[in-house]
Amino acid sequence: MSKTILTGIKPTGEPHLGNFLGAIQPALELARNHESDDKYFFIADYHALTTLKDPALMAQYRQIIAATWLSFFREEKKCYFYFQSDISEIFELYWILSCFCPKGLLNRAHAYKALVSQNNENNHDNDRNINQGVFSYPVLMAADILLFKATHIPIGPDQKQHVEIAIEIVKSLNKYLKEPIPIPKPIIDDSIELVIGTDGQKMSKNYNNTIPIFSDEKALKKILGKVQTDSTPLGQPLNPDACNVYKLLQYVTPTDRLKEIKNEYKSGSIGYGHAKQYLLAQYQEHFKHAQNNFFNLIENTSLIHERMAESTQQVQLVAKQQLAYIKSSLGF
Ligand code: ADP
Ligand code: TRP
Repeated sequence: MSKTILTGIKPTGEPHLGNFLGAIQPALELARNHESDDKYFFIADYHALTTLKDPALMAQYRQIIAATWLSFFREEKKCYFYFQSDISEIFELYWILSCFCPKGLLNRAHAYKALVSQNNENNHDNDRNINQGVFSYPVLMAADILLFKATHIPIGPDQKQHVEIAIEIVKSLNKYLKEPIPIPKPIIDDSIELVIGTDGQKMSKNYNNTIPIFSDEKALKKILGKVQTDSTPLGQPLNPDACNVYKLLQYVTPTDRLKEIKNEYKSGSIGYGHAKQYLLAQYQEHFKHAQNNFFNLIENTSLIHERMAESTQQVQLVAKQQLAYIKSSLGF
């Protein structure tokens, strides 16, 4: 059976290692292993609007996330890149799906619940500063997925519940469709889990602890310098399994080199300063090619638009057809 692969990234900040390992790398692997299947990779800009209201920043981050997708994908076939906001059918489907989504499902969504409990802790009204877009965020995500009958959704573990909500919605919509929409499957790399940030907590743009995928050496060195370690003195063996620097090294270092580094940790021949230098070198090596592509695109944004224009047209065609089918099935 043919697969349809789809995932999005919000333009809310500089793309970081968590985005790469949770979404981009698995998307790349799927793209390389499924040449003949359709693959949709987009910039979830209307999702970003739930939190980002600064027009200049929105414009900047939209370009940055677009350039990020394009810098990793060069030759892969049947990959479509687009801005979510350019596909108006998604938002029409969003309304239709809202009418098939039990409100209780959204009450239980982790992201919304976390904001409510924050308000509770601060003795504020439950829904203070929570906009309707935040509440219905998972419905828009279901529309992103279901409009393209996507079957495989590469995401980080924090997005799993959103795909589960999409599954509940599609089950209820399918009762009205002669040709059911396939049930989407979250693709989560269990070996990676949630990537940690410089403070050892989940890496996220919200927590100011991210390691950007693209940055110059000086800035990167400064950020890696902040990765928290314990106070084992130089000359003592270090425990790789309890070390944030080593955890990060595992994401970007080839196996043989990683083995060597592990031995150095255990023998006590290096300290955390050396380990951070290794991390800097491996990180730069890992993203070298993508980084060149990225800066080239950011300096020539017309290239971004050129590469996305054709994709967007194709995506719009598919979107129109599928929306028309769903509407006619519902009597419109
Ligand atoms: P952020 O949390 O920084 O705002 P996004 O919400 O834009 O990031 O996430 C885009 C993709 O990157 C999603 O698939 C998400 O699951 C993944 N992702 C984000 N942070 C991490 C992380 N720390 N570990 C693994 N995947 C992550
Ligand atoms: N909500 C996702 C995030 O914050 C981004 C996203 C929007 C997405 N629509 C999607 C991911 C559809 C996968 C499929 O990371």
